[in-house]
Amino acid sequence: MRVSSIVSVLSGLHATSCVAADDSWPWQTYKSSAFEPPNLKITKSGPTAPGYLFFDQSWDAHQYSVFMMSDENELIWQSPFGDLKDFRVQMLDGKPVLTYFNGIGIPEPFGWGYGIIQVFDQSYQSIYNVSLLCDNYTAVGTVDSSSFVSWLDIHESTMTSDNTMLLTGYNVTRADLSSVGGPKHGWIADSLFYEIDVKTNDILFRWSAKDHVDQISLEDVQPFYPINDWGYNSSAPYGYFHINSVEKFQDGSFLISSRYYCSLFKIAKDGTVDWTLQGQTGGDFSLDGVNFAYQHDARIQEETEDKLIISIFDNANSDVENGTDHTEGIFMNVNMDKKKVTPFRLLDDSSDEIFSVSMGAVQALPGDHVLIGYGSNPKFKEYNADGSPVMTVQFGEDGVVSSYRAYRHPWVGIPNTAPDAFACNDASHNTTNVYMSWNGATEVKEWKVFGGITQSGLPPVGVAPKTGFETRASVKGGLKYVRVEAHGRGITTGVSKTVHVQAQC
Ligand SMILES: *[C@@H]1O[C@H](CO)[C@@H](O)[C@H](O)[C@H]1NC(C)=O
Ligand SMILES: *[C@@H]1O[C@H](CO)[C@@H](O)[C@H](O)[C@H]1NC(C)=O
Ligand SMILES: *[C@@H]1O[C@H](CO)[C@@H](O)[C@H](O)[C@H]1NC(C)=O
Ligand SMILES: *[C@@H]1O[C@H](CO)[C@@H](O)[C@H](O)[C@H]1NC(C)=O
Ligand SMILES: *[C@@H]1O[C@H](CO)[C@@H](O)[C@H](O)[C@H]1NC(C)=O
Ligand SMILES: *[C@@H]1O[C@H](CO)[C@@H](O)[C@H](O)[C@H]1NC(C)=O
Repeated sequence: MRVSSIVSVLSGLHATSCVAADDSWPWQTYKSSAFEPPNLKITKSGPTAPGYLFFDQSWDAHQYSVFMMSDENELIWQSPFGDLKDFRVQMLDGKPVLTYFNGIGIPEPFGWGYGIIQVFDQSYQSIYNVSLLCDNYTAVGTVDSSSFVSWLDIHESTMTSDNTMLLTGYNVTRADLSSVGGPKHGWIADSLFYEIDVKTNDILFRWSAKDHVDQISLEDVQPFYPINDWGYNSSAPYGYFHINSVEKFQDGSFLISSRYYCSLFKIAKDGTVDWTLQGQTGGDFSLDGVNFAYQHDARIQEETEDKLIISIFDNANSDVENGTDHTEGIFMNVNMDKKKVTPFRLLDDSSDEIFSVSMGAVQALPGDHVLIGYGSNPKFKEYNADGSPVMTVQFGEDGVVSSYRAYRHPWVGIPNTAPDAFACNDASHNTTNVYMSWNGATEVKEWKVFGGITQSGLPPVGVAPKTGFETRASVKGGLKYVRVEAHGRGITTGVSKTVHVQAQC
């Protein structure tokens, strides 16, 4: 058979939109890969910060995975299937790594989980699992925990520059709830947080809300999360604190966020509460132009001698209260001398107001851009330095899918797996259509295609520039065997298996 050349590279046709019977969101399909990422609805009105979009899919997702996708709706990397959350790039030993929670999530009205945090290197190899094995936990009564390998919760997996990770845990335990009208021998879901060494899993710090009821009283949470019928048994523990983020101050103390107290707390190294910033009453502060409720993702954005800027995702909505105030991203000045909190930046899109009842995240990006992931509402928005929305991405129907957190990060991935290829004969055009992809390979610039009628010694039949997650090329003649090779910066492997060409397309 003669060596023929690529006659055409068909771009833009690799993404097929399908609508499921249950009328969920359309997804993309490929010939060379079984991944089916959502078809992103992208509205862009200005430049965005560099990097890819990172998100998970929860609730009624088509495929339970985490996704790395481009602003052009192209899949970059999709994880193996699982109940995975909080997918992002962090630094370990000064090198970028990927991290996510892998376990099970217990749906609202509980809203926490049990699992491990996985750490992957730039070749997508699993290099560390952060886990909590023997801290004598009890799960919510409806959950069979006999097979659990670790008790770490969904909510936090932030890495520090010391190669440690800040983590949360939810332990069902007994508590006296009589002071707030509950049972004397009641049940709570205690909120714990940890600092754990990523490489050894040694627990360096442990804190429990239950141990500090003297400073964080059950009475204070009643206006925002009344006890009602909670706490009578271990299947309905009173999850009154609901920790949802942990961050470290320079002096080694911690900033934590409690959903139901609508509060941020500064926790000293001895575990005591240094201060409380309550979103409605102020707590130890006076609020001037800022208020928040049921917030997530409290982050220290700037910390100097005389300045503290904290960002939060202000849900303003929850399973207790919804539909009055819209959700926004808040960056606030916390003046420690005057004990006063004022707005620094308030971010929302007045043309598309969102009422997010759970989850969510706010990420500061280069150029004073901000990415907001709306949690229970399957949308992200990027805002520019003026606070104007420059991009909206939707990946599902409201109320059907959600993403715990969303991020934007630059990323270079060189997988240690082989690329995938699929080929079929299009007899009517006397061509062989070749489809190739390589999950997670960010650096591929072009594909070399080899083909022939015997399996060994396949000659080159053409070169195709990469067009997206899957590149399709059409080669003259009816081939029987095809192999593809990826080329680009840093790629030293990148050869697919030799695949048998399907007789019909
Ligand atoms: C981490 O756990 C996953 C899931 O059980 C497993 O596949 C992987 O090999 C583990 N990685 C390491 C470094 O132990
Ligand atoms: C672990 O917790 C159970 C209650 O769930 C208790 O009976 C047991 O004594 C605890 N064990 C340890 C080692 O603390
Ligand atoms: C978790 O709760 C059990 C009681 O159900 C208790 O024995 C155990 O000490 C608690 N673990 C932690 C880490 O607080
Ligand atoms: C636990 O308490 C809740 C709320 O009071 C109740 O609906 C539920 O039936 C109880 N479950 C068990 C197993 O007793
Ligand atoms: C919350 O309120 C908004 C605005 O009224 C509404 O669109 C949304 O469906 C509500 N969400 C839930 C979960 O009730
Ligand atoms: C199909 O294409 C091949 C390669 O270009 C050529 O050798 C062959 O004659 C063609 N067959 C037909 C039926 O056109």
